[in-house]
Amino acid sequence: MEKPTYYITTPIYYPSDKLHIGHAYCTTAADTMARFKRLTGYDVCFITGTDEHGQKIERKALEQGKNPKAYVDEIVAGIKKLWELMDISYDDFIRTTDERHIETVQRLFQKLYDQGDIYKSAYEGWYCTPCEAFWTELQLKDGCCPDCGRPVERMKEESYFLRASKYQDWLIDYIKTHPDFIQPPSRANEMLNNFLLPGLEDLCVSRTTIKWGIPVPFDSKHVIYVWPDALANYLSVLGYLSEDDSRFQKYWPADVHLVGKEITRFHTIIWPIMLHALGLPLPKQVFGHGWLVLEGGKMSKSKGNVVDPVVLCDRYGVDAIRYFLLREMPFGADGLFSNEALLTRINVDLANDLGNLVSRTVAMVEKYRGGIVPAPGADTGFEGPVVDCANALYGRVQQAMDGLQFSQALQEIFTLVRTCNKYIDQTAPWVLAKNQEDAAKLDTVLYTLTECVRMVAVLLAPFMPSTPQRIFDQIGVQGEEATCYASAERFGTLSVGAHVKKGEALFPRIDIEKEMGLLAEALKASQAGAGAAPAKEAPKADKPKAQPDNKGDKNQQAAEKPISLDDFFVSKLVVAHVLACEKVEGSDKLLKFSLDVGEEQPRTVVSGIAKYYAPEQLLGKNLVLVANLKPAKIRGIVSQGMLLSAEDQKAGTLKVLEVPGEVAPGSVVG
Ligand code: MSP
Repeated sequence: MEKPTYYITTPIYYPSDKLHIGHAYCTTAADTMARFKRLTGYDVCFITGTDEHGQKIERKALEQGKNPKAYVDEIVAGIKKLWELMDISYDDFIRTTDERHIETVQRLFQKLYDQGDIYKSAYEGWYCTPCEAFWTELQLKDGCCPDCGRPVERMKEESYFLRASKYQDWLIDYIKTHPDFIQPPSRANEMLNNFLLPGLEDLCVSRTTIKWGIPVPFDSKHVIYVWPDALANYLSVLGYLSEDDSRFQKYWPADVHLVGKEITRFHTIIWPIMLHALGLPLPKQVFGHGWLVLEGGKMSKSKGNVVDPVVLCDRYGVDAIRYFLLREMPFGADGLFSNEALLTRINVDLANDLGNLVSRTVAMVEKYRGGIVPAPGADTGFEGPVVDCANALYGRVQQAMDGLQFSQALQEIFTLVRTCNKYIDQTAPWVLAKNQEDAAKLDTVLYTLTECVRMVAVLLAPFMPSTPQRIFDQIGVQGEEATCYASAERFGTLSVGAHVKKGEALFPRIDIEKEMGLLAEALKASQAGAGAAPAKEAPKADKPKAQPDNKGDKNQQAAEKPISLDDFFVSKLVVAHVLACEKVEGSDKLLKFSLDVGEEQPRTVVSGIAKYYAPEQLLGKNLVLVANLKPAKIRGIVSQGMLLSAEDQKAGTLKVLEVPGEVAPGSVVG
C-alpha cells in the first residue's frame, strides 16, 4: 500500500555570515516533525533552503570583492554544515539561485502577467541614492535614510504589481471557512483584523534599481522583487512548471509551512493569493511560531548576544540543544533564551531525570540480576500508575505532535521518566534485594523500569537523533520489533533476557556556576571570530518605532498616512498581567505598574491614566502592552512599554484595553 505523503517546509534563510540559535529553532522543529511523520508511516518531503537575492547581498559581496554568487556559495556551504551538525534530515535544499528555481519563478511570473494578475505601474517612495534603496515614510529616521542617515528624495520607479486587492474578499472568506489554515488561531485574527479587513493593496513585485535578482522574463530592466521569488521556492523545489513535475504532483499541497511570526503574513496573504491566481490548492497549514528572544533583547553584534548554535552543540551535544529548543517554550509563543535556562534544563531534565533513570536501571539489573533483564514476577502494588502512564503515552505524544506542540509531547514523555523515578523510590529495590521472598517483586520492578526506559527511548527518537540508540545499547535492546516507533504503543514489548551494559553518562552533569562564565566567553569568542548576523536576521518587529507623544497625534497620523504591513508589524502587542499598581509620587496623572509579560522579570511601566482609574481597580487585570517601545524615563522611572487605552475626548473618559478570560501573560495580541 502506498504511504500517505507529508510535505513540510522551513522558511528559506537569508545567507547571513552565520545563522543563530533562532534560525536553528525552526529548522529543528521541522526536522523533528519530519522524523515523527517518517516514523509513523508517512512518505515525507522536508525542505529547507536559502533566499539569496537582493541588494544587501549584492552590496556585501561587493565589499568583499566577490561576485554575489561566489559570496553566497561560501555562506550556503556553512549553513549546510550547520544543518549537518544538528542532524537536520532535509530531503532537498533549495537555493533561489538554483537554475530550477529561476525557471519556475520566471514561468510563474509570466503566467500571472499573461492572465492580468501582474501589471505595470509605478512605485513611489523615499529614495536614498547612495544606498539605492526605497523607504516608506515611517521607515525614515528623522526624515533621513535609516541605513546611512543621509537625506532622501521623493522618487517614482516603474514597477510591476501583483493584483492582490482583487483577491481580498476571497481570502477573507477562505481564512474564515478554514480555521486550521493559519495556526495558532490568534495569528489568523491578526491577519484578518490588521491586514485584510482594513483593505489590501496591490503588491510591488519588481525593481529596476536592484540587479541581483531573477530578471522579469518579458522586461529585462526589472528583477523580481522579494516575495514572489522567495515564496515560490516551495513549488520550484518540487519541479512545478518544469518538465518533470512528478514531485509536485505527489507532494503539493504542502501539509505545513513552518514560519516565524513576522513572516506569517507573507505566507498567509501574498502566498495564498499567488497560489489561487495560479489555480493551485493552498497549503493545508501555515504555522507562525514565536521567537527565541535573547537576554538583552534583540540579537546584535554590538550587544554581543548572538547565540551561535555551533558553540552550544559542541559543548553540550546536539541532542541536548534540540531538546532544549523544543522543550523550553510552546511552539506558538515567544521564549527567553538564557544560558542559565539552558544549563538548568540540561541538568534537571536530561542529566538528573533521564540520565539517572537509565543509569540506575542498568546498575540495578547488573547488580541484582547479573545484567540480564528478568521476566516480571509478583506485583509490588506500585506498578499500576507506571504501566497506565506508559500505555497512555503514545496517544498523548501523537496528539501533541499532531498540533505541533513539541514542548507538550516532551513533557508527556518526561512524565513517564519522573513516574519511573518515583517508582524506584516507592519500591526501594535495594530493600527488596535483601529478602529472598521479595525476589519476584524485584523482578517486576526491574522489568517495568527497563521496559519504560525502552519506551521513552523510542518516543524520543524524533527529537533526539542519537540518544535513543545510546539508551538501547545500555539496556541491551536490539532489533526492529523493540526499537520501531510503533513498539511504544503498548507496555510489554521488551523481551526478557536482554543483556544490559553500563555506558557513559548520557548527559554529564554540568557545574552551572563554573560553566556560565565559560559559556559566555565561548559565545563571545565565536561572535568576535566569525562576524555576527546582520540586522536582517533579527526579528524585524524588534526594531523600536518612533512613537508620537500623545494619542491625538497618533490617531491623526494613522488617519493621514497609510502605513504598510511592514510598518504596522514593528509594534509588538502582548498581554500584560497587572501584578502591582500605585500612584507615582507627586503626580496626579501617573500610575506605576509592575506587569507580568511572560518574561523572567516583571516590567515597570508608567502610564498617564491616574485620573481615570484608582490603582486597585486595575490589579490582577490583563491589559495590552506595546512591548517593543524604546524605554523612556518618566519622573525618574524607566518605563518599559505603553499600555493601550481608548480615549473618548468629547465625553472626557478613558478605558484601558483589557483581555477578558484566562490568557497567559506575554500572549501576542493581534
Ligand atoms: N528569507 C526570509 C524567509 C522567506 S520564506 C519564503 C527570511 N529569512 S530570515 O533568515 O530572516 O529568517 C528565517 C526564519 O528565521 C524566519 O522564520 C524567522 O522568524 C526565523 N528567526 C529569525 N530569528 C529568530 C528567533 N530569534 N527566534 C525564532 N525564529 C527566528 O525571513
